Amino acid sequence: MHRLTRAVSLTLLCALACGTDNEDQPGNTMATLPQGPVDTGPSDPPPNAPLPPAMCGDMNGGGDQHVDFPTLMATKIAEKDTAMTRQLALLEQRYDLSDRAGALRMTRGKPVQQGVRVRLPDGLTWQDLAALTPEQVRERGLFPSGFRALPHPKQPEGGMLFPPSTIDEVLRQTGRDLQRFDLDFDLPEHLIPEFPPAIFLTTRPDLGDVSQGKLVTTDNFFELFKCILNPKQLDGLRLLLTPFAQQQFNFTDDRRSERPSQGVACLDCHINGHTNGATHLVGDIRDQAHRNRIDTTSLRGLNVQHVFGSQRALMSVEDFTEFEQRAAYFDGDPVLATKKGLNPLERGSQVQNMAEFQKILDFPPAPKLGVDGRLDPQKANARELRGQELFFGKARCGECHSGAHYTDGTLHDLQLERFFEPATINGIVSDAEGPMKTFTLRGLKESPPYLHDGRLLTIDDTIEFFNLVLETRLTDAEKRDLRAFLYTL
Ligand code: HEC
Ligand code: HEC
Repeated sequence: MHRLTRAVSLTLLCALACGTDNEDQPGNTMATLPQGPVDTGPSDPPPNAPLPPAMCGDMNGGGDQHVDFPTLMATKIAEKDTAMTRQLALLEQRYDLSDRAGALRMTRGKPVQQGVRVRLPDGLTWQDLAALTPEQVRERGLFPSGFRALPHPKQPEGGMLFPPSTIDEVLRQTGRDLQRFDLDFDLPEHLIPEFPPAIFLTTRPDLGDVSQGKLVTTDNFFELFKCILNPKQLDGLRLLLTPFAQQQFNFTDDRRSERPSQGVACLDCHINGHTNGATHLVGDIRDQAHRNRIDTTSLRGLNVQHVFGSQRALMSVEDFTEFEQRAAYFDGDPVLATKKGLNPLERGSQVQNMAEFQKILDFPPAPKLGVDGRLDPQKANARELRGQELFFGKARCGECHSGAHYTDGTLHDLQLERFFEPATINGIVSDAEGPMKTFTLRGLKESPPYLHDGRLLTIDDTIEFFNLVLETRLTDAEKRDLRAFLYTL
């Protein structure tokens, strides 16, 4: 009965909202909805001067790794302020970036951030928005800009960017500098995962967190792991910590580190086998304005997954390990890789060892979940249990985030383009994005930001996002219940 009344009133609201005639009449709540389009930020790209020509030597191939480095560095530094100011303004316009720590903690104590951070136009509520059909949202230009593709701080340039916590500690321990002279990482530290994160091994659950509160680097891994890994896994870990040349970090003139760089290590991004939120552009989309920003995924729980990469759908950890090195590190360009110092990994003796270590990285414990991955009614409270019911029922999450590991191991196209007109936002084209990997939701509270590009900052944002995208029209109370359940994962 309740449902029926609701459906009728929605139809009524729609009828009122869709006609332009009624819109100015008093008492018509939908008529007071703000009119879009929502401001999505600057459409022109940030400045990005071409590389200066080579001064000497082999000009073959356009001099793309052999340029006048002092001029390159000065030019890029001159553009840095403009690029960062534009990006930070864009973030501020989209999100509430404030530090609103809740009581809930990640394994090693960093507070989980609270609240919906994506901004709505003044006067619009999430309930108003979710009452509209995708067509109405698009026609009125009301899709929140925080739900759209997030650009790289300098989309035309791209490349790896590391958060300051990682840069400082890697420098302190190993002397390697991951700072770029042309750009900084753009999200504040309180909105990214804890540093350093805990490490759980599938092979030694008895030990709990084996990180000892340290960032694992070439400096300490042997000491930390010699008694709990076999020699093959230790060698895999060594390789995951060894820097290899990369597009922005290498020994050539075409780099973005002040000094020639040995490169980056896998675990510079996937720190302690988890993630620090480091970002770059995906290698395999062209043109540059269509390349997705990507948020580093956690390597926890790789052992139970079957597709890797948000869109690549590579079918083994071994394949992905090779792919990162051969393609992702060099923007999908094998020629550049050869020029800047490709380090091909040997499948049998190196890739396998690296994969073996990655595949024993476990999710953090979820003490309220039973052997089937569902809440143990003895341990969960009423709100969490209601949230679980919603997850597998009205909210529809379980249709894709299924099984004990909360993923169906495949990709889905959320068809976000139903809700908005294509636009270019600080250099990135926001339009149809195609199928994406259904990321697992285990350990979710420890891996903000969310979605492949990190466009959603909190779990509350993801609830509003899916409520709109799936048109499930949850009540505020239902959203709170769902959140309580997501926190238990
Ligand atoms: C710039 C930081 C960075 C570095 C360095 C890096 N990765 Fe990644 N890694 C990512 C990002 C970002 C993704 C997500 C890719 C996507 O969305 O398609 C990813 C995805 C993965 C995945 C798939 C995870 C999943 O759940 O789908 C694996 C496995 C992986 N990386 C292993 C490695 C290995 C091995 C190395 C070293 C050779 C490495 N990574 C180096 C950022 C990095
Ligand atoms: C139609 C399949 C589908 C349904 C239904 C679905 N999801 Fe997802 N989910 C996905 C896909 C695909 C992604 C990756 C999207 C992307 O990265 O752009 C995702 C990503 C997420 C993420 C981000 C994970 C991360 O690590 O970044 C969260 C959180 C999430 N979903 C929660 C939910 C919740 C809560 C519901 C129910 C309200 C839900 N999903 C319903 C397919 C689905």
